Amino acid sequence: METLKIQKNEIEKACSLILNDEIVAIPTETVYGLGANALSPKAVEKIFIAKGRPQDNPLIVHICSKDMLEKLVLDISDKANKIIEAFWPGAITLIFKKSDIVPDEVSKGLDTVAIRFPNHKTALELIEKCNTPIAAPSANISGKPSPTSANHVFNDLNGKISAVIIDENCDIGIESTVLDVTREIPVILRPGQVTKEQIEKIIGKVFIDQAITCNIDNTKKVSSPGMKYRHYAPNSPVTIICGNENNSFLYIKQNMDEKTGVLCFDEYIKEFDENALSFGSIFDKKAQAQQLFDKLRAFDNMDITKILAQCPNDDGIGFAISNRLKKSGGFNVIEV
Ligand code: TXA
Ligand code: MG
Repeated sequence: METLKIQKNEIEKACSLILNDEIVAIPTETVYGLGANALSPKAVEKIFIAKGRPQDNPLIVHICSKDMLEKLVLDISDKANKIIEAFWPGAITLIFKKSDIVPDEVSKGLDTVAIRFPNHKTALELIEKCNTPIAAPSANISGKPSPTSANHVFNDLNGKISAVIIDENCDIGIESTVLDVTREIPVILRPGQVTKEQIEKIIGKVFIDQAITCNIDNTKKVSSPGMKYRHYAPNSPVTIICGNENNSFLYIKQNMDEKTGVLCFDEYIKEFDENALSFGSIFDKKAQAQQLFDKLRAFDNMDITKILAQCPNDDGIGFAISNRLKKSGGFNVIEV
């Protein structure tokens, strides 16, 4: 199939494709999503085929109003309402008990559904115009880094999807925080721009799911099916070097050869040759988040056999950035 490029001021075109059960890549403030009418099982199934997504991995449903939310879920707890007040529209996805209108193709056997109200003009215009919730995972081939530009989507999915909406690069660059608000003490299933500290200021104690910090055995039951699968992985294996920046720099210098790709902070780029890419200053986590997936993707065009990466500390969005980086290397981490 030919994949159309739709400009962001031609939303009607994207809308008619969505309402015809086609799949369209849409920009959001976190990463590009691959959207389908969330209420159409036939449309949603196309997402799994195009991405090669494991069949047990449920999708996030994107909405543009509280009215839409109320139709999709059974109950909105006080804590959930407070989070919605504080952070929606924005980069946090909430897990609710699902209502009957959510097809099993979206929730994949769970009795819950993940809902996100994106803070992005084009995405919201599309959902409003279609007047239907839109299911959308990240618009990458399953296992690859999430796409933060229309070009990334095109590289992965050209010929497999009906259209890509052309818009600016995604501002945040890593996917939303996922918070399960069905539990008495809510649990963070995936870290993102909205941090544990910010959430706890609004609703008090929350937990972090253990699966965020280590590799998960594929056969185990996990809170979020996506946790089981390898993610964000470039073709060459990644080793993540954590700790003081000068120590990680020295470790990389001592353990690299001419076929090593290096991912480093801006401050160190001039110390390396052409196989090094920098992803922002040590002090600029916003830049690191924006650039991480683009740089991980760029390594696939280089003649290298392994990648050594400097890792940001866990402050603020650093926890989410280091989570994505560690997942990209299957938690192959060295502390220095
Ligand atoms: O920022 C984002 O969240 C992006 C943009 C496009 O909105 N979307 C995104 O979707 O990252 P995806 O499918 O790549 O990641 C969704 C994650 C997966 O790990 C999935 O397993 C989990 O959310 N998830 C979805 N529904 C769930 C549910 N009912 N319970 C627990 N986890 C769920
Ligand atoms: Mg994804």
